[in-house]
Amino acid sequence: MTTEFAVKATGLVKTFAGQEVIKNCQMAVRKGTIYGFLGANGSGKTTVFKLLLGLLKPDAGTIEILGKNSSINRNKILKSIGSIIETPLFYEHLSANENLALHLAYMGAGSADIEKTLEMVGLKSAGNLPVSKFSLGMRQRLGIARAIIHNPHLLVLDEPVNGLDPMGIREMRELFLHLVKDRNMTIVISSHILSEIEHIADAIGVIVNGRIVEEAALSSIKDRFSDGLEDFFFNIMSGNGGGINAGINEA
Ligand SMILES: Nc1ncnc2c1ncn2[C@@H]1O[C@H](COP(=O)(O)OP(=O)(O)O)[C@@H](O)[C@H]1O
Ligand SMILES: [Mg+2]
Repeated sequence: MTTEFAVKATGLVKTFAGQEVIKNCQMAVRKGTIYGFLGANGSGKTTVFKLLLGLLKPDAGTIEILGKNSSINRNKILKSIGSIIETPLFYEHLSANENLALHLAYMGAGSADIEKTLEMVGLKSAGNLPVSKFSLGMRQRLGIARAIIHNPHLLVLDEPVNGLDPMGIREMRELFLHLVKDRNMTIVISSHILSEIEHIADAIGVIVNGRIVEEAALSSIKDRFSDGLEDFFFNIMSGNGGGINAGINEA
């Protein structure tokens, strides 16, 4: 089955201890695009990502990943996704190389060029170093390496540039654009930093208190809001809405 969407979620609900944290969420991400998922801290970004990855089970709603229902095809789908959720965890006493090799074995991914992948994320000379010696920024880079090394179709990146300096943020931005353009990946990336998203996204979803209040193409936002994403975002946060209906990203 072919579909133009890498992610299509509808009616997602997630409740923790009687509290509805995710409320009737929808998300539609076109293949070959970068979807920026924006929201304040605590708005529900990580929870939505965990639902997409099957790390949490929704109380209601459906999720299609690359055209397949995720509750039925979970294991197969997971092999075609790369992800970084919150702060990535590693085997501390093992080297970066060993951590990536274990990940490949776990994913049943066979051979992949570990050295090349480490070079892509700027960790060329750190492959033999135990992860316990890594700085926060190096861990984040290694997390990105682990997310991409099995050449997934879909990347789900939860605030992936936390802990990186401005130069590192720019390098990762270029890497993400490269992965979409040259490796046919689709990227869903969350952030609470608007400028980070504005530089790379094709479409934007904004989540406020567990509800996706706007979904729109970045170009249409820029047409309507002269100051760009920041203008759009603050308009939403002040309760005016973005001026664009949710669902505009739909076919
Ligand atoms: N396992 C959990 N148990 C209870 N509450 C949770 C759990 N995970 C997240 N929450 C709550 O859900 C809300 C959304 O959290 P989260 O998805 O982490 O937001 P974000 O990633 O946007 O900062 C927060 O109020 C958070 O406290
Ligand atoms: Mg989060």
